[in-house]
Amino acid sequence: MCGIVGYLGHRQAYNILISGLHRLEYRGYDSAGVAVVNDDGSLEVCKAKGKVSNLEQAAAGVNLTGHLGIAHTRWATHGEPNNINAHPHLSQDGTLALVHNGTIENYAVIKQMLLDNGVEFTSETDTEVLVQFIAYIRNENGCTLFEAVTSALRQVEGAFAIGLIEVNNPDTLIVARKASPLVIGLGDGETFIASDATPIVGYTDKVIYLKDNEIALIKRDEELQILDLTDFHKSDIDIQEIKLSLAQLEKGGYDTFMLKEIFEQPTTLRDCLRGRIVEESSRIKLSGVELNRDVFAKCKRIVLVACGTSWHAALIGKRLLQDFCNLPVEVEYASEFRYSNPYLTPDDVVIAISQSGETADTLAAIQLARQKGAFVYGVCNVVGASIPRNTDSGTYIHVGPEIGVASTKAFTGQVTVLTLLALAVGQLRGTVSPDTVKEIADGLSSLPETIEEVLKLSPRIKELSNIFTYARNFLYLGRGYNYPTALEGALKLKEISYIHAEGYPAAEMKHGPIALIDQEMPSVIIAPSDSLYDKVISNVQQVKSRGGHVLAIVSKGNTSMDNIADYCLDIPEVHECLTPIVASIPLQLLAYYIAINKGKNVDMPRNLAKSVTVE
Ligand code: AGP
Repeated sequence: MCGIVGYLGHRQAYNILISGLHRLEYRGYDSAGVAVVNDDGSLEVCKAKGKVSNLEQAAAGVNLTGHLGIAHTRWATHGEPNNINAHPHLSQDGTLALVHNGTIENYAVIKQMLLDNGVEFTSETDTEVLVQFIAYIRNENGCTLFEAVTSALRQVEGAFAIGLIEVNNPDTLIVARKASPLVIGLGDGETFIASDATPIVGYTDKVIYLKDNEIALIKRDEELQILDLTDFHKSDIDIQEIKLSLAQLEKGGYDTFMLKEIFEQPTTLRDCLRGRIVEESSRIKLSGVELNRDVFAKCKRIVLVACGTSWHAALIGKRLLQDFCNLPVEVEYASEFRYSNPYLTPDDVVIAISQSGETADTLAAIQLARQKGAFVYGVCNVVGASIPRNTDSGTYIHVGPEIGVASTKAFTGQVTVLTLLALAVGQLRGTVSPDTVKEIADGLSSLPETIEEVLKLSPRIKELSNIFTYARNFLYLGRGYNYPTALEGALKLKEISYIHAEGYPAAEMKHGPIALIDQEMPSVIIAPSDSLYDKVISNVQQVKSRGGHVLAIVSKGNTSMDNIADYCLDIPEVHECLTPIVASIPLQLLAYYIAINKGKNVDMPRNLAKSVTVE
């Protein structure tokens, strides 16, 4: 979703801003813009609809030579994606430029007040309302810019991360945040700001994650000041080290980030498991569980909250926690949970799952759960993101930066961590036998090799993708542990190929979707040799007898599907609870190759954002 970059230092700001925007492209956006306070004292703005490369073309003849600037990638919320609505936005007198992520909910009331006072607007955005409001307060009250910004931000409702610069003031950059992330990078005589750490990597490894309701005054050659917007007390400055490398942010020889991330999974799962299976596979060690033994020993219910792919991981987590912890477990979409007045008590543990750690709905669900006294545990990928900082405890999945908008390695990392979590809690509560822990832990330890084996199917899946690219609709079917795998396979296909796909519990198909089946609508069946295999076989027969084409994912050595399905992909046999991880790999590849055949941009699919920071 929207991305902010800013720079104040001794280098040419424009170059740093553009390279930062490129690094933020993965978040998803539809226009981009840049503003620089030039060395001649002017404030120059340049914007373009579409890609950052369009902005670079538009900026070619423009004077953007200065050492202070802000830039933005916009994912439209208020007003269509075009040059006018793109950020930065200027105050009417042209003295202030603002970039903003988030949404100002009371913008209409403020806009009306400003219109009544003669302010004119050029765009449809809530961001222009904010910058005009700041300028209005400054003019009306004769206060400093910093005072005007704090006053405006105390009056707006909603979410924001902002970066603000002023003409004729090449030495000051103001940033603030509420419910939308913002990172400050501290270099040697230079300061960077960004929505996440990726634009800062390579310049400095020292960062400050601005906390909710904080505002920072960044001045050249002066000590950084951070204040709390609610009571103006000085905040402690907590400098952290980022451990990302430039190599992790590059494609490493693959055509796309998505393909790189699919093929990285043996490594990312090794990283995810490192140090967590101990004593010759007989014990699972998760520090988040060990530090909160009492909470997990006494808890009476677990509620998992998440969105999108992370919600699919949560559905698998439900099965794992039910099977190994003997607890009632519920799964909720974070966006529904936050408005559902959920029944929660201090005996409940809420597990929030999020790759980015910034999803607005998941963050709001966490806040609600904590208000209601539940213990909140995060399962997150991005270190230092808002979700891990707002939960009581948690586990990082440690799969490295995921740049492709369609989640792949983060999904398998999430399911791996949920498996570890269910075993660790089950161990603690005495609800899982040591033999079962050992058997599954052995399977987890072998996952990197198992997935390497599955990845060898890639050429065959590429071939099959040619057969299926014609389809306009797909059905993905699975049962038990693999019903969520079917949902995830369908989501991957939808996201990157724009083909309509529905995931369904295989047995539910006969209650409705069976009406859709004909020769034009292929079904992908996830049918490893598990406890429901025989049941799935009869569901496949129901598809076949209606003329549907079937691609089945089956366990190696089980040939009984060969004469029923049109095509079979053999995956290694693993413990039933690990089948979603293994079976999701061919589904990722199938979606990938179909999307490539259709000429789609798999890393940045239309309309999607990597970090969904609006509700
Ligand atoms: C995954 O392919 C999607 N892009 C999307 O559904 C994503 O999983 C969802 O927005 C949740 O994001 P999060 O894991 O960062 O919270």
